[in-house]
Amino acid sequence: MNIGMFELQQLQALERPLVDAQQEAIRNHCERSAAMLREHGMSSEPWLDIVQDHHERPDDSGYPAHMPSR
Ligand SMILES: [Fe+2]
Repeated sequence: MNIGMFELQQLQALERPLVDAQQEAIRNHCERSAAMLREHGMSSEPWLDIVQDHHERPDDSGYPAHMPSR
């Protein structure tokens, strides 16, 4: 579910706050992860939904879509 974070691992070593583009890249990792899995042949929509929604929360406080969990 976090394969989309692989390219962002270097951000953990930064000693300054993340810039907006970096924060947005992190927020988008759920969608990026699902897209990468699709590109590599994953076709199970329930699995892809779980990956894409894994930071969504029942109280809408999650991301990226701020929607209740499915
Ligand atoms: Fe994640």
